[in-house]
Amino acid sequence: MESRVMLSLFTLLLLLSPRNSQSELQSPPTVCIIGGGIGGSSVAHFLRFYSDSETRIHVFERRGVVGGRMATVTIAGETFEAGASILHPKNYHALNFTTGLGLKIRKPPASESSLSLGIWDGKRFLLKTISVDSKIPFVQKIVSFANSVYLLVRYGFSLLKMESFVEGMVDKFLKYYESTESRPVFETVEGMLKWAGLYNLTTQPLREQLVDAGLNPLLIEELVTVITRINYGQSVFISGLAGAVSLAGSGGNLWSVEGGNWQMAAALINSSNVELHLHEEIEFVSHLEDYYELNSTKGNSYACQVAVIATPLDESEIQFSPPISIPERKLQHTHATFVRGLLNPAYFGLNGVSEIPELVGTIEDPDIPFSSISVLKQHDKNDVTYKIFSRQPMADALLDTIFSERKETIQINWGAYPHYKAPEVFAPFVLDGQHLYYVNAFENAASTMETSAVAGENIARLILSRLYGKQYLSSSTSSFPNSKEQLHSDL
Ligand SMILES: *[C@@H]1O[C@H](CO)[C@@H](O)[C@H](O)[C@H]1NC(C)=O
Ligand SMILES: *[C@@H]1O[C@H](CO)[C@@H](O)[C@H](O)[C@H]1NC(C)=O
Ligand SMILES: *[C@@H]1O[C@H](CO)[C@@H](O)[C@H](O)[C@H]1NC(C)=O
Ligand SMILES: *[C@@H]1O[C@H](CO)[C@@H](O)[C@H](O)[C@H]1NC(C)=O
Repeated sequence: MESRVMLSLFTLLLLLSPRNSQSELQSPPTVCIIGGGIGGSSVAHFLRFYSDSETRIHVFERRGVVGGRMATVTIAGETFEAGASILHPKNYHALNFTTGLGLKIRKPPASESSLSLGIWDGKRFLLKTISVDSKIPFVQKIVSFANSVYLLVRYGFSLLKMESFVEGMVDKFLKYYESTESRPVFETVEGMLKWAGLYNLTTQPLREQLVDAGLNPLLIEELVTVITRINYGQSVFISGLAGAVSLAGSGGNLWSVEGGNWQMAAALINSSNVELHLHEEIEFVSHLEDYYELNSTKGNSYACQVAVIATPLDESEIQFSPPISIPERKLQHTHATFVRGLLNPAYFGLNGVSEIPELVGTIEDPDIPFSSISVLKQHDKNDVTYKIFSRQPMADALLDTIFSERKETIQINWGAYPHYKAPEVFAPFVLDGQHLYYVNAFENAASTMETSAVAGENIARLILSRLYGKQYLSSSTSSFPNSKEQLHSDL
């Protein structure tokens, strides 16, 4: 009798104090996300979107700001993207985040969308498109039409074949926005890519696939190389999928978020009822009985039923217990150097600054010390802000030969994206077969803000279906397909 009373008292106590450690691990579950970039913030957003439960979500960000590889620099009072900078018109998650969370789409001003292009081989320009200093849209149309004709003469109908190669990839990618009724939850990156018909693109180098598609070698060695060097800092030997994504990122109607793309992550986190821990780096992730214990450099310890790694593990110092094993991957480092000053025409064998194309791309040659130099903003005739991409840091002595004047120089070393190598091998989405997830496994397919959001959405669904069963998800449908036509025509 006495023990019955004790027992019900105990049950009563349990009911009255839901905050004891036992029930905290049961319901509601705690999800801990390591990394406050677009991947981590997308996981948080989609967990809330697909689940009404009172899941507790922690986001740990080792730096003082969210956004990860989305960040801005300020030069001469103006803000420029320093990392991930452009979005494609069909990046529907990013579009939805931007329009749905009160951010503004920034379309490049007309002057930026028709930058004159030059392809530099280290000694001379192999190609220079026309640049006309005109603010009249009509004249610009003719100029870009003339440039199209010019490129068509040089590369022939290969240009059209390139376009259809890219469009084929984009159309397949759109399958990831299909309603959740018809779209499965993917347990592996391979499965996710195969379902959309994109997997084969990751098994061969871009170069091989473009040759198979009938592109002429000149186009591949020049224009395509310029584009893969700008977008991924690598040659045309990256995988076909990364290559196609990179080419898609050189088309028209590209956009960004007014004031900085990092605000997408900030707004997603802000709207997802998340406990955000800035300046808190997770050092240890230990799998104990039925939860993960995350220990931070601040000496704090967190118990989480689900742990999500939303940062590339390639250069990370996180220690796992028990240890995890994933295929080795290297990050490609890109040095982004911002210079306010003026280019030196003599470096390019030219007489005047105005003869230097606004976008100088380069071919693959180890002696060329940079991948690209482009005009970000012309403040006035002799005062310009440029952005340089290079694989190695730009030494001051080198910068002094390329520029006749430098008022301000900012260098950023990004562990920017994977070093792509076909055939790609993929880390698993579920690192330990339990509840330890890895968003950035998808980066071997292609690394962009949108692909991170797409991977984050799948991880959120994967978490919910593995916690509660598949039927948990089947009732929720994405509001997306209805809104996307409208979003698209807005651009
Ligand atoms: C799109 O944005 C709207 C508005 O914020 C939101 O309600 C909806 O959940 C979003 N859809 C997706 C799939 O993110
Ligand atoms: C991918 O390649 C395999 C083997 O070469 C082939 O059987 C399959 O049809 C290809 N899939 C697509 C979508 O092209
Ligand atoms: C966060 O959201 C609130 C409203 O929910 C808004 O007032 C605030 O400005 C937002 N903060 C940021 C940093 O987006
Ligand atoms: C994590 O922190 C807890 C509590 O301080 C401690 O008991 C545990 O040993 C730590 N784990 C590791 C791997 O350091």
